Amino acid sequence: MSSLPRDQWYVAAYTAEIGRELFSRTICGEPILFWRTEAGEVTAHADRCVHRRFPLSRAPSRLVGDTVVCGYHGFTYGADGKCVAVPGQARVPRTARLAPYPVVEQDSLVWVWIGDPAGADPARIPRASYLDDPAWTTVRGMEPLAARFSLLVDNLLDLSHETYLHGGYIGTPEVADTPISTEVDDDAGIVYVSRHMDDAACPPFYQRSTGLSGRISRWQDIEYTPPCLYKLHSRIAPVGSVPNPDGSDPDAFHVEVVYAITPETEHSTHDFWMVARDFALDDAHVSAFLAEQNRTVVLQDVEALDVLETVIATEPPGYQELSVNIDTGGLAARRMLARMATEAPHTAPAATR
Ligand code: FES
Ligand SMILES: [Fe+2]
Repeated sequence: MSSLPRDQWYVAAYTAEIGRELFSRTICGEPILFWRTEAGEVTAHADRCVHRRFPLSRAPSRLVGDTVVCGYHGFTYGADGKCVAVPGQARVPRTARLAPYPVVEQDSLVWVWIGDPAGADPARIPRASYLDDPAWTTVRGMEPLAARFSLLVDNLLDLSHETYLHGGYIGTPEVADTPISTEVDDDAGIVYVSRHMDDAACPPFYQRSTGLSGRISRWQDIEYTPPCLYKLHSRIAPVGSVPNPDGSDPDAFHVEVVYAITPETEHSTHDFWMVARDFALDDAHVSAFLAEQNRTVVLQDVEALDVLETVIATEPPGYQELSVNIDTGGLAARRMLARMATEAPHTAPAATR
């Protein structure tokens, strides 16, 4: 049985990735074709011709106006997925239609619904509006991960690993040494994990981007909305500084580290990462530094998680790992994900998907 939650919204791409080119990405084992119409709308359909399965994203398939022409025998589809022309006959079979996927563009992300389209309520998509807000500057990337998505969830919910895996980048001794508090909101479907370090070393990642040096107050507030959207609200400020009672926080630097954790298959994951900041908005050096540093950090995780995937593949059945206090958030997330995976109907994808 699949452990991937269906009947869920997943980030399929950044909006900038989808244009007037045929674009394909596999989400939860389903290859999906994306392109943008001449009017600018994103379309999402099964990336498989109904005739002989040729992937429509693959050359010599091509986009002609608002139609896609299959590169194998020329079946032609409109933006609604309906076949409008087949070779050698005037009649187009009524069932010649690509399976559509509900798709929403929001906060610079393209979200796609995997599961029964009847349940696709856009209001359920979690928000990260700062990713598309001129008051913030965002750098971003996406790394392919040859590991199951739950390993990335574990990784992101327990930031004590920063001290060890990311020492010299974002890790300092205080991260692992400071206890966390965990809260679970089952109704909203959110896991919160907080770690407030009131007197900590400033890691290079924040030293060079904020200009702060010496000891800092460093807050990490994780807000994870399973299955896909992970937000780390990061606050960096001089020691002793706290936000004002009205919520304003002029002495602090705020960084929103966002991940979209999207399963590609049972054993591989699209690791979308974004770093949004509310300072040095136009500073290209800070942008380049944060992008390069964060990508390095993400690749350190990718390398470790790829190894874990191979370890899991070769371990005897029934192996038990050991959990401690730092795992509280990760365990809460696992429980939520397990519930999602069993609650949703495990219908096999339709033949045309
Ligand atoms: S496989 Fe697409 S037209 Fe034949
Ligand atoms: Fe990490």
